[in-house]
Amino acid sequence: MKKNISLALTLVILTACHKEAPIPSLEERYEKYFPIGAAVGQKQLQGLDSALLIHHFSSLTAENDMKVSRTIKSMQEFSFTAGEHLVDFAERHGMQMRGHTLVWYHQTPGWFYRDSLGHYLSKEQLLQRMRWYIHQVLDHYRGRVYAWDVVNEAIADGSAMFYRQNIDWYRVCGQEYIKKAFVYAHEADPTIKLFYNDYDLINPVKRDKVYKMVKKMIDEGIPIHGIGMQGHWTLEDVNEQNLSAAIDLFASLGVEVQITELDISVYPYYHNMDRSTLPKEVKPYTPELAKQLADKYEEVFQVLRKKSEKITGVTFWGVTDKKTWLSNYVVKGRTDYPLLFDSLYQPKEAFWKVVEFVE
Ligand code: XIL
Repeated sequence: MKKNISLALTLVILTACHKEAPIPSLEERYEKYFPIGAAVGQKQLQGLDSALLIHHFSSLTAENDMKVSRTIKSMQEFSFTAGEHLVDFAERHGMQMRGHTLVWYHQTPGWFYRDSLGHYLSKEQLLQRMRWYIHQVLDHYRGRVYAWDVVNEAIADGSAMFYRQNIDWYRVCGQEYIKKAFVYAHEADPTIKLFYNDYDLINPVKRDKVYKMVKKMIDEGIPIHGIGMQGHWTLEDVNEQNLSAAIDLFASLGVEVQITELDISVYPYYHNMDRSTLPKEVKPYTPELAKQLADKYEEVFQVLRKKSEKITGVTFWGVTDKKTWLSNYVVKGRTDYPLLFDSLYQPKEAFWKVVEFVE
């Protein structure tokens, strides 16, 4: 058992309950369905965050600490310390560790694509650099990270373009960088589960593009083992129908499906939208809003339980509403309430809807 937790923190968890009984553990409640994960930074490995992590979660993802910009400072200097703290914590508490992420247009330093004079590398040079980077990172975490989001967000929103083209990876290498990343990751460590990860995959247009790309990769023998549906849903977009359809379609490829970055914003749909049109006012967290969120989480988890044979992990993008990226994205400073625990670390109505179900 991993419950290595101080008495004080245990008391906080157990007394923070508005009901008579102790707060059920998410991880235990979902033990027979799938591991439940959370994405955090190393600062959350202490205090109340860590108490919730230990009690409720069986999987960990680095919210930022394993991204390229955090991992490599220059061609001569890697920086694994923060990522290692997360891996140490996961091991200490019997949690599995997901790696996020190796190849992404965002949070990768501009110099990575260029030579020392600032000129873009050639396609061959950039692919070589990618290969070198992937080998360094996978060698470093060998045996300690069971799955990686190898490529993140390579597919464009909408129907005008298939791939995201206005990014350096594509500009220099064309679409080939996607396959190569998987080939290099597999050669570096054939034991790791390799995922393609993206958002808005409940949207049929984007969903079908990802399906097509992954199908082609499988047909060509490229080592790809899973599709990560980020999540990042809103009260308006996700529903029983579009979520079920996406999971079924991806699973029909014979790959694993994971929900890798789950949160549900209380603000309107925001992917691929003109930010100036989005409402800026902060919504108060009223009982009505709490109920809407709870009902949505109930709907989502009903589907996830029903499809659990196709799902090998569900990871929340954060632990409590106190620290959620959505309070600064897409509108800076607009408080959001997308997770199961509130900013005082208390379980929300949504939490109870997720744990209180009839088998
Ligand atoms: C976000 C982090 O949560 C923020 O702290 C950071 O400033 C930007 O990145 N899709 C992803 C994640 O794959 O890596 C992003 O994480 C959220 C969207």
